[in-house]
Amino acid sequence: MLGFLVVVLTVPMMIFGCRDGKHNVLTIDSYGNKSLPIQVKNVKLLVYDHEMKPSCYKNKVNIVLPGYFVLVGGEIETSRNFDVIKSGPTSLSVSLDGDNICLEGKSDMFIVPNSLCHFELASFVPVEICKIIQKKGTHTIKEIEEFANFNSTIELPPSPSFLGISLLEVLKGDYRIKVSIASEGEKIVEFSVPTGYVNLKMGMSEGDDED
Ligand SMILES: *[C@@H]1O[C@H](CO)[C@@H](O)[C@H](O)[C@H]1NC(C)=O
Ligand SMILES: *[C@@H]1O[C@H](CO)[C@@H](O)[C@H](O)[C@H]1NC(C)=O
Repeated sequence: MLGFLVVVLTVPMMIFGCRDGKHNVLTIDSYGNKSLPIQVKNVKLLVYDHEMKPSCYKNKVNIVLPGYFVLVGGEIETSRNFDVIKSGPTSLSVSLDGDNICLEGKSDMFIVPNSLCHFELASFVPVEICKIIQKKGTHTIKEIEEFANFNSTIELPPSPSFLGISLLEVLKGDYRIKVSIASEGEKIVEFSVPTGYVNLKMGMSEGDDED
């Protein structure tokens, strides 16, 4: 009887416990070298599923594809001018449950193309946003939204697939993500998602069991 009550009381808490603005928060900050010329500070995003419901797994933020991010704040400090549109090679380090997917911009897993681990910033981030962040100064997310006419609700595409199989379905779990951007041969910024280069859940669904 008591066991039954515990189940009845805790199951809805697990399912409905993902509170908007509390559990679905993702923060991004510079990681590592504090002397790099661009520093990312307190960037905060809320994470949603494709139906715009807060996205969590066991009350921890969980990125799903397709889905949505809503950018709510943060700033980027740029200590001198750069041209990341001309040159902004971006390298990812991504691991899943301890296995490398991308290592310093190179694929370390045969189903993942190198182009997912290394790309030009301007091929991914709108040029209007690049123009703002590459200029010397402190840029708040609010300012970037206004000047780049940028929608703070960001639609996340469906997962990349390989031979018709959704990569995220195969590669779900605890991720560690670090992004490093160079410009004209110099590393200019490095940040982790989330802050502190700790685990980030991706692709989990409430039905998944995890140790
Ligand atoms: C940190 O970045 C600065 C500026 O780019 C560079 O001079 C320095 O060598 C870097 N330090 C380390 C430990 O990589
Ligand atoms: C911002 O993007 C979202 C998702 O694509 C869309 O629903 C919304 O209408 C857009 N808002 C504006 C002001 O364009």
